[in-house]
Amino acid sequence: MTPVGIDGIEIWTGTLKLDLPGTLAPALGEEPAKFTKGLGLYASSLPDTYEDIVTMGANAAYALMDRHGLEPDDIGRIDVATESAFDNSKPVSTYIAGCLESVFDGDFHHANKGERKFACVAGTQSINDAYNWIRAGRNRGRAALVIATDTALYERGDGGELTQGAGAVAMLIDEDPSILALSQEQGYGSADETDFLKPNQQFPSVDGKRSIQVYLARMREAMADFEAQVGETHPDDYAYIPFHTPFPGMVRKAAPIGYRRMIRATEIEDDLAPSIGHQPRPEAFDDEAAFHDALAEYMDALVETDAYAAWYDRVIEPTLSLSREVGNWYTGSVHLARTSALLDAADRDVDLAGMQLLVASYGSGAQAEIHAETVRPSWREEIDALPVWSHIEARTSIDFPTYERIHDVHNHDIDTGADVDPVTVPNGEFVFTGWGRMNERQYEFVD
Ligand code: CAA
Repeated sequence: MTPVGIDGIEIWTGTLKLDLPGTLAPALGEEPAKFTKGLGLYASSLPDTYEDIVTMGANAAYALMDRHGLEPDDIGRIDVATESAFDNSKPVSTYIAGCLESVFDGDFHHANKGERKFACVAGTQSINDAYNWIRAGRNRGRAALVIATDTALYERGDGGELTQGAGAVAMLIDEDPSILALSQEQGYGSADETDFLKPNQQFPSVDGKRSIQVYLARMREAMADFEAQVGETHPDDYAYIPFHTPFPGMVRKAAPIGYRRMIRATEIEDDLAPSIGHQPRPEAFDDEAAFHDALAEYMDALVETDAYAAWYDRVIEPTLSLSREVGNWYTGSVHLARTSALLDAADRDVDLAGMQLLVASYGSGAQAEIHAETVRPSWREEIDALPVWSHIEARTSIDFPTYERIHDVHNHDIDTGADVDPVTVPNGEFVFTGWGRMNERQYEFVD
């Protein structure tokens, strides 16, 4: 079977940078260490006045198509995953296609376009849709463009304000891909949950503490379901495990769940037994509460072991480097984590070809999905061509009053007037120019 997977990646960050320990922490009366040590975050990417989910998505897609020498005729499908849509009918992919048609010859009139919604897991779902479309033989030799784009802003004063971010990840899904081939097997953990939602409102209603527990519960279920498909997994099976990363501290809580499962009944569990005992097994307990207490005690001891620390440093920590600097990009977050991993391997000159990643996606509401990806021989060329760190380093830092003004500009309930000056000057990119006669948003490319 010809492999299907990720053939190209491009990342577009919001142009503005908010320093979290240096600027946001003192303004909100928080300890800087809550960001750096607790949440694991150093900065947020934020959108300037002329940026939104369309401009960031179109800019990422344009750069990707341009670098790959693609024309609109080469694309048979455009799916946008977002939690920040501003229209309940017209999909964001039509706006992005319109932007791209203004700079390319040709059009996307014969491409299927859609918008995917399931909180942050929608980007991964769009990749799966593209995979299925190609496997079904409906693509006519064309690739799919998947764009995960979000302005992950929270109401001022909400606990989530600490974890904000804005950016887009565009991915090309194709046969015989250059970067990663997707596994056919997937594990799901899915349940009706009320932890984070936007019922016809711009900013989310969030039960922060509960959302963390729901993330962990669904991830646990998805891992069990994945192992039911592929058999037992082992920590050495995966070079990296990119998780959905709302903030790196969340991944620090989730990673031990996977590790415990992967070392069960292996030589690693046996080697650790003299110092921390064997893993508690439910059949050894009369009641569930006693089992869970014993399990929590085992997990606390497990994360203190050298074996766990070495695995975490090798497999998890490198997936967090982009997230630490940009915050939560919702639908794009797990794709940033995957990219961080590949950039780390390129930096360290690791020959990754043939190795596997285990990709753990999550969306509130709630659903986790886990699948494996196999690195392709030509991955390095694609990753070396990705200018993500230079884009991130080129952001413009803003002070707290500017942050407040920018947040207001993006708040649909506040009328800041039409002429709020942008902080930066757009250059060679799509920009938002205002509203049209039917209240549609309008865009143009600025040279
Ligand atoms: N030094 C070191 N660490 C400190 C510290 C200090 N001075 N002060 C606090 N910390 C630590 C805390 O101990 C805590 O770490 P642990 O959980 O490991 O103990 C961490 O910093 C955060 O502190 P709090 O729990 O006190 O923070 P908070 O209550 O203000 O809010 C939050 C944290 C709940 C994550 C909040 O930011 C929030 O609601 N975020 C949005 C929801 C979210 O991201 N949920 C994640 C799961 S849902 C999901 O993944 C979907 C999605 O993308 C939204």
